[in-house]
Amino acid sequence: MDISIKHGLPEQQKSACVILGIFERRRLSPAAEKMNQACGGHLEKILKSGDMDGKTEQSLMLHHVDGSACERILLIGCGKEKSFNERAYRKALKTASTTLLKSAARDAVSFLTELNVGEHTGGWKIRQATEIIEHSRYRPDHLKSEKDSEPKLRKITLVVSDARELKAARLGLAVGQAIAHSSALARKLGNLPGNICTPTYLAAQAAKLAKQSDKLKVRALGQKQMETLGMGALLSVAKGSRQAPKLIEMNYQGGKKTDKPIVLVGKGVTFDSGGISIKPSAAMDEMKYDMCGAASVIATVAAITELQLPLNVIAIIPSCENLPDGAASKPGDIVTSMSGQTIEVLNTDAEGRLILCDALTYSEKFNPRVVIDVATLTGACVIALGKHACGLLSNDDKLAHSLLDAGNDSGDRAWQMPLWDEYDEQLKSNFADMANIGGREAGTITAACFLARFSRNFKWAHLDIAGVAWQGGSNKGATGRPVALLTQYLLNQCGKNYQLP
Ligand code: BES
Ligand code: MN
Ligand code: ZN
Repeated sequence: MDISIKHGLPEQQKSACVILGIFERRRLSPAAEKMNQACGGHLEKILKSGDMDGKTEQSLMLHHVDGSACERILLIGCGKEKSFNERAYRKALKTASTTLLKSAARDAVSFLTELNVGEHTGGWKIRQATEIIEHSRYRPDHLKSEKDSEPKLRKITLVVSDARELKAARLGLAVGQAIAHSSALARKLGNLPGNICTPTYLAAQAAKLAKQSDKLKVRALGQKQMETLGMGALLSVAKGSRQAPKLIEMNYQGGKKTDKPIVLVGKGVTFDSGGISIKPSAAMDEMKYDMCGAASVIATVAAITELQLPLNVIAIIPSCENLPDGAASKPGDIVTSMSGQTIEVLNTDAEGRLILCDALTYSEKFNPRVVIDVATLTGACVIALGKHACGLLSNDDKLAHSLLDAGNDSGDRAWQMPLWDEYDEQLKSNFADMANIGGREAGTITAACFLARFSRNFKWAHLDIAGVAWQGGSNKGATGRPVALLTQYLLNQCGKNYQLP
């Protein structure tokens, strides 16, 4: 989509659609007021008729209003003016995007980006608008012979309230576009079924990204190399599948050679049946989403490549299937991880931690500044936090806070849980160094305690995205989270002086 920025007056826009905000009790936003004056009080008159009050999620499309230079005026309910915050702003953008995309308008000019949202800058507002319009445009129809209705919209112009904000707005636009492109990639990969999106397919997609930039190198280790490295935990999960396991390694060098890299690790189970501890069949199809950690990490590397961030970032993606088979791991099997620690596999469905632990040990060789893993790790996290926040656990408080901040800045939020020794004790095994499950209580925390045992030599954080990576119901599909959080975190690491390429 063609998205641009300008500064201008609503009544002068020669566009197919001008988008204006209305607050509750029919209060006109400043831009709506200007338009109202230009068209002789017409907006006020229409609102008085009672068709719209300005409550959130309301919208009203007007055609050929005299005094305006545009074909349509789209009024968007913004809720109470006093409580117009980030959430209300995003809701207004969402309503505007969906209504606009259903209309026949081929281009539009939005004045919603002029509204005051707390202390937020024009750059932030433009970025949110960019992400939301692109997010609304996405259709999961790659594999349908007849595509879902194709929106007519080709171009949208976002208005900033002050010409002095144009420079910051351009950065917001670029960041918003990079996040939008990448989160669409994460959604596309997530939505692909297990028979197409295999570990080999993921590796090929990662390799494709490397063609776009000299700064990015990608390779994938196969089973033989994993055997040589002693990745007994990862290989024990892959054993029940006919698909070759892969350890994908993406190396982005945007910083100085001597800068320590930030390592991102993404769980890439392309289908999780549970293995011999097989899952119930209801909604088992959703376990194709068990590679959404991998997808978000690959997509985040795509975002920083697009933005050319001056950082060194390595992505490590352990990828395989978890299936039952004569060769599959059995409950009670004991495996030796790359770290040398032995693990009693009491439940083959707790496979994510088994592939991640070897990837975490592997990441030590990069002498990382920090390691962040991203995984659809536990159903318990969905129960604890629902679909609104990902679970965050870390052995370093400063890192945890940077990630929480990045979540708040980007609107892709995380919530921290404790990693206390009391929980770690739940992993005791009679026969090995640890068990791969810690009982029914605090499942998200004990899973993280397991990973922490492989992360003692570096600063590490874990994002459990089981609740946020996809949604069920009629709008079923991958969300692209937490690409925005991760990209924001990496952007914040560059400091204030990051310049667009
Ligand atoms: N991929 C699942 C976690 C999951 C389940 C995410 C449902 C989203 C929805 C993971 O591999 C898993 O099966 N975890 C088990 C762990 C248990 C056996 C300790 C779980 O959460 O049930
Ligand atoms: Mn599982
Ligand atoms: Zn899983």
